[in-house]
Amino acid sequence: MTQSMLGGGGVAAESIETLWWIMLAGASLIFALVLALVVHAGWRARGAGPGERLVAWLGLGMPVAVLTGLVAYSVHVGHGLATGSGQQPLRIAVEGRQWWWHVVYPEAGAVLANEIRIPVGRPVELWLTSADVIHSFWVPGLAGKMDMTPGAPARLTLEARRAGVWRGQCAEFCGVQHALMAFDVVAMPPEAFAAWLRRQAEPADPVDDRFLAHGRQVFLDAGCGACHAVRGTDAAGVLGPDLTHLGSRLSIGAGTVPTSIGSIQGWIADSQHIKPGNLMPAFGRLESRDLRAVAAWLAQLR
Ligand code: CUA
Repeated sequence: MTQSMLGGGGVAAESIETLWWIMLAGASLIFALVLALVVHAGWRARGAGPGERLVAWLGLGMPVAVLTGLVAYSVHVGHGLATGSGQQPLRIAVEGRQWWWHVVYPEAGAVLANEIRIPVGRPVELWLTSADVIHSFWVPGLAGKMDMTPGAPARLTLEARRAGVWRGQCAEFCGVQHALMAFDVVAMPPEAFAAWLRRQAEPADPVDDRFLAHGRQVFLDAGCGACHAVRGTDAAGVLGPDLTHLGSRLSIGAGTVPTSIGSIQGWIADSQHIKPGNLMPAFGRLESRDLRAVAAWLAQLR
């Protein structure tokens, strides 16, 4: 799961990377020229002056020419990023919250958190907003970054060239757990993506197993549904992440720990130890059997 803007897998990331290399070349050229002038000045220190013409050419003319070229190119690249390829995009709404990501696929009716899946080769239009403070959406391997501002949705277009997993990160300081506000973007072949999305739109499966049924009951009795929704049950809270298909996600706690029965158990028992300051209170008072059952039930929600 790389979080690098070099060697990325997105259309926008490619043009940003090219721009970055050209900028680096331009900056290196000017740097080399300045060094040459310094050496030249030292060489000629005791002799006659170098002549104003040389200073004018190398000190003024060259930087103006190089910088003008770079600015023109970066405006051209920026324009290309904003207009996209013209194909019908897939729309996904992402809302930043302290400190996680609420993700909605409006056309399919799927709601999830801290993970975005996209089809390879089709542009995706992200509608980015925030529920509280300013966050910034950034998946360097796929596209540039975009601020998420309360009340002012912004659009960002992503398109993955190949299947893979890219790490995204909030790029605007937003409180104590800003650093642990991460997510995964999973680019999938179109058919696999369509199957995944259909599944995400469905409610959670009912359970026959007694242990799992007990886990579901513990979840409902402990009041987890006040903050979390699990579609297909009475839990319909909207304060915390939707957990309907939690077990299918790569991580919990917004990229904090990999998803497993053990990590879910640890999170429920003492999430404040794993991610201090997050909104979820510790449920250390649960009996260990109850804790294991609720974690087992959540982990198999795929
Ligand atoms: Cu959200 Cu930093």
